[in-house]
Amino acid sequence: MMDKMLGIDVGGSSIKAGVVDVSAGKLLGELIAAPTPQPSTPAAMMPVIASLAARLPEAQGRIGLAFPAVVKHGRARTAANVDHAWIGADGAALVRRTLDRPALFLNDADAAGLAEVRLGAGRGEAGTVIMLTFGTGIGSALFTGGHLFPNSEFGHMELNGMDAEKWASAHVKTLQSLDWRAWIERVNVYLERMHALFWPDLFILGGAISERFADFAPLLHSPARIEPAQFGGQAGVIGAALAAAEADA
Ligand code: BGC
Repeated sequence: MMDKMLGIDVGGSSIKAGVVDVSAGKLLGELIAAPTPQPSTPAAMMPVIASLAARLPEAQGRIGLAFPAVVKHGRARTAANVDHAWIGADGAALVRRTLDRPALFLNDADAAGLAEVRLGAGRGEAGTVIMLTFGTGIGSALFTGGHLFPNSEFGHMELNGMDAEKWASAHVKTLQSLDWRAWIERVNVYLERMHALFWPDLFILGGAISERFADFAPLLHSPARIEPAQFGGQAGVIGAALAAAEADA
């Protein structure tokens, strides 16, 4: 197994990349990022991914590519916040064609959850853990006993007659100019529903929420423990590299 691996995390507004020391489970150097091209088609995105990878030549081996979609058998099956041309695309094959390197293609929240459960806020929790990422959408990752149940899509659970992420994502907070209190009230409703359905021991909250956690943690409530993502905005990149390393192990 290589030590320095490249993690890439594709989001609705930016694409982040970093070199991860997968043995130590930490980022080496800075995260670099580029805006997600619009339209966010595979043809437009791959050159951006290639130029980010070219800026991080010290990484070796398989690339971990975290993507905001359901990924089944290596192919994207949904495209809630990226161009629909991704549906059916084989992310690892695109990386191989563009960069001539092997890759592992996985859901972005699953990647972030892996980082947190292996090394961050969920480390040592043997029960049920739900990682939620609040960004353009709401991503989710479900673990029990440290095992990932891949491609949970809890951001699309129905709340108030719509997709939960259309009501409670960080993007909606900005779009509707909600203050923290108003937004956290929505997050609490969402957590309550998730708790009633899955009875997790721990919720890990990532994305926008983890950055200001100390400020509004007192407003959050759930019968389950709630922790901020320890890796913050780096979780997807770190988790993508870890997943690529686990695929090689
Ligand atoms: C997508 C998920 C993704 C999440 C966060 C949702 O809209 O359906 O696959 O994990 O956004 O990016």
